[in-house]
Amino acid sequence: LGTLEAHVAEVPTANAGPTVSKEVTILYGSQTGNAQKLAGKAGKTLEAQGFQVTVSSMSDFKPNNLKKVQNLLIVASTHGEGEPPDNALSFHEFLHGKRAPKLDDLRFSVLSLGDSSYEFFCQTGKEFDQRLEQLGGTRLYPRVDCDLDFEEPASKWIEGVLGSLSEAKGESVALATAAATQAQATESVYSRTNPFHAEVLENLNLNGRGSNKETRHLEISLEGSGLTYEPGDSLGIYPQNDPDLVDQLLEETKWNPEEAVTVNKEGDVRPLREALLSHFEITVLTKPLLEQAAKLSGNEALRELTLPENKEKLKEYAAGRDVLDLIRDFGPWNASAPEFVSILRKLPPRLYSIASSLSANPDEVHLTIGAVRYDAHGRERKGVCSILCAERLQSGDTLPIYIQRSHFRLPENPSTPIIMVGPGTGVAPFRAFMQEREEAGAEGKSWMFFGDQHFVTDFLYQTEWQKWLKEGVLTKMDVAFSRDTAEKVYVQHRMLEHSKELFAWLQEGAAFYVCGDKQNMARDVHNALLEIIEKEGGVSREEAEAYLADMKKQKRYQRDVY
Ligand code: 2AM
Repeated sequence: LGTLEAHVAEVPTANAGPTVSKEVTILYGSQTGNAQKLAGKAGKTLEAQGFQVTVSSMSDFKPNNLKKVQNLLIVASTHGEGEPPDNALSFHEFLHGKRAPKLDDLRFSVLSLGDSSYEFFCQTGKEFDQRLEQLGGTRLYPRVDCDLDFEEPASKWIEGVLGSLSEAKGESVALATAAATQAQATESVYSRTNPFHAEVLENLNLNGRGSNKETRHLEISLEGSGLTYEPGDSLGIYPQNDPDLVDQLLEETKWNPEEAVTVNKEGDVRPLREALLSHFEITVLTKPLLEQAAKLSGNEALRELTLPENKEKLKEYAAGRDVLDLIRDFGPWNASAPEFVSILRKLPPRLYSIASSLSANPDEVHLTIGAVRYDAHGRERKGVCSILCAERLQSGDTLPIYIQRSHFRLPENPSTPIIMVGPGTGVAPFRAFMQEREEAGAEGKSWMFFGDQHFVTDFLYQTEWQKWLKEGVLTKMDVAFSRDTAEKVYVQHRMLEHSKELFAWLQEGAAFYVCGDKQNMARDVHNALLEIIEKEGGVSREEAEAYLADMKKQKRYQRDVY
């Protein structure tokens, strides 16, 4: 109680009512950095209005301090099947656990980010919102759930929150909005909302002939953009849809490709074909899209599919299908082209882990992109951006791009040993790490685990790895080619084979990095790590988990998984 009183006494009350604090705590749970960025933006906006703002990752926030917070803003994204992002996990668990405090004096608001093509859309934000209310908190502004196109609803939320907070202080909202615009103007010229049109310098297939895979290596020029990045950051690309798919859609609907349609909330207008190529998502069927399509078409079967009791059927239908299927399966459509495109989602940018270091490649950014092709429901399906890169993008072409900051970082101390696990395209950020450490002449040991299907065709950047090994930039490398032997070997098997040495590195303070497939690989690597700590450390499973949790806290266990 003592600290609580001290805290309240610190609150300046010059132009605020006696009960309203000017202190605002903003906590974010962010995987790719969008939630963090928005938390930062909210922070700047509020600060410009005289609020005392603390912006913090949920993982850096001491939950015991929650009771002292009077104004809490939460910005949280949701992943996969409704999971919180990594840096929100412990706070989420704390709030939902028995030790969660009563929060009767708390005023809060939640901004949730998500993707409506997933069943558990914005689940994490919803849970925080509900739980804070259960614990006694009062909503100072209603929760806002954002789909991939989050910029506008997020800005509205910030304005709304600011309005409520200022109202409570008896200040004008108009003033606040002006300050928000000012805060934005100081940010760099090129961003997610204003991408740089970058020239493609190189576009190569890294796999040899006969491979099951196609992995593109892209080199992109940043010249003239002023954009910079750190190893570990990602590049956002605004792709174009497959022209063949767009033309099939036009053929199916008999819509006029030249007809003018509105492409955004500002009311900008483009010819239909261009709009379908560059502005709208046509390869994913989300639940909101199907619901709106049902209203538009008046088709009885589609209407039935969207009824609450057919939730599972709808999920099954949407999986692996696109807008062309929707048009074909539920015709005839009386809707006009402008009506139809108005229910489509904006084409979202794609993020790729950067595969280069800026100091080794001034004014360039490199990417490693796996081409996504598969068959579903009798048709070949193609990944929008990866297939643009694999089939249509040539050197000399331009791509709208931006830099997405990340937490995935080399240790601050260049002498700290690093262990990197990056099978397949997961190799990308580790190429950047090696280039950076080579450039800096870093002393720290490094150990790379790489895996793919076949040694002969799929050893991505083989000659570079061999060079780094030879020069001592890389200390050790272990590879797992899963389809060269009768029995599959994966990176985690190589880790287990070197269990003793790997544990010794961890004990020396090595940082452990994983990049690549989340569903299977990252999970199996995590379990292998636990097994190694258990065995070599002579500890229980629980203690091994605590050991890893501790490494996470020290930023010595980092993942970039997708
Ligand atoms: P596979 O295709 O033979 O199953 C990069 O894609 C490499 O990761 C491939 O060799 C792939 O093997 C492998 N891989 C697939 N599942 C994995 C898992 N659960 N853990 C580790 N590697 C995996």
